[in-house]
Amino acid sequence: MARWLAETGVGERRFVVASPNVWKHHGETVAAGLPGVEHLLVPDGERAKNHQTLGRIYDWLIESGADRSSTVIAVGGGVIGDTVGFAAASYLRGVDLVQVPTTLLAQVDSSVGGKVGVNHARGKNLIGAFHPPVAVIADPRLLDTLPRRELRAGLYEVVKYGVIASRPLFERIVTDLPRIFAREPEIMTAIVADSCRIKAEVVAADEREGDRRRVLNYGHTAGHALEAVTRYRRLRHGEAVAYGMLVAANLGVERGLIDKSDHAALVELIGRMGPLPQVTDLPAAEVLDAMRRDKKVVAGRLHMVLPRGLGDTVIVDDVTEKEARRALKSIGVR
Ligand SMILES: NC(=O)c1ccc[n+]([C@@H]2O[C@H](COP(=O)([O-])OP(=O)(O)OC[C@H]3O[C@@H](n4cnc5c(N)ncnc54)[C@H](O)[C@@H]3O)[C@@H](O)[C@H]2O)c1
Ligand SMILES: [Zn+2]
Repeated sequence: MARWLAETGVGERRFVVASPNVWKHHGETVAAGLPGVEHLLVPDGERAKNHQTLGRIYDWLIESGADRSSTVIAVGGGVIGDTVGFAAASYLRGVDLVQVPTTLLAQVDSSVGGKVGVNHARGKNLIGAFHPPVAVIADPRLLDTLPRRELRAGLYEVVKYGVIASRPLFERIVTDLPRIFAREPEIMTAIVADSCRIKAEVVAADEREGDRRRVLNYGHTAGHALEAVTRYRRLRHGEAVAYGMLVAANLGVERGLIDKSDHAALVELIGRMGPLPQVTDLPAAEVLDAMRRDKKVVAGRLHMVLPRGLGDTVIVDDVTEKEARRALKSIGVR
């Protein structure tokens, strides 16, 4: 790690923030890679992504005398990355940030793109900033200790990248699923690199074209609604996105945008990846309401990203209530 950091040219004073859980698994490796580095442990998990945790990070940075030339290193999943990232964005109006993502979700999504922030009691990610890291160090070996469910949760986002932008990535997951579950470093490196490349390309294109970034929301309209209706307790974010991708793909089939065989391949892959928590008790009307409340509703019309084959999508803004209801039934919502 010291070698990677040397290459980024970041300053010599480094402040590592991790969670007790992540440190238990990987603290020794991080400390060995950065001899003498100071570190702080704060809780992770969605409920810890708040101002209190942020306050503890500021306190520690101030007490330790961190200055403008210091570098803050976030070692953890998306919660640590977002929270520590926001601390780095705001402390002394911004100090250098290095992300060391330790969940698959963080490696393929949250550590890339520069968005950082914390939750507010009134809602998720309400307080935030844009603070791109000077480096992201994604080491596949860190994923060895990840619980299987967390691995799968991140993998659904990788499936998303395949569906929106790359049939070869999608097919690689289909072929190599056992190797992915075995966390073979070679295959993990390949899918993480592909995912980051796709996200970076989409985000860069967005700066020029405006709307392009919205394709990253594939699976997220229904997904966010399912998370909200179940109060963020039942589903990991990726699991909700898996359902959301199925809902959008169902709409895509109904509209003749995606081949039946491509649709079947997606349904089969998500099925093979493992069981998703049930949603059969959720009333469609409630989920629909939550979909309408999501920020992707512009002027009362439901915007959705629909697959147009594997590796291509289209954004529509005319999804009717009847259509959405039928698509929700396809995942078992009642
Ligand atoms: N900034 C962005 O653009 C962006 C994008 C997507 C998601 N996010 C955010 O990411 C967060 C979710 O991140 P997450 O899914 O990584 O959750 P998380 O950070 O809560 O981590 C999930 C669990 O995995 C554990 N863990 C982390 N690394 C581990 C390892 N190597 N071995 C064993 N256990 C490990 C953690 O202790 C935690 O219990 C959400 O808050 C979401 O809003 C941000
Ligand atoms: Zn997501």
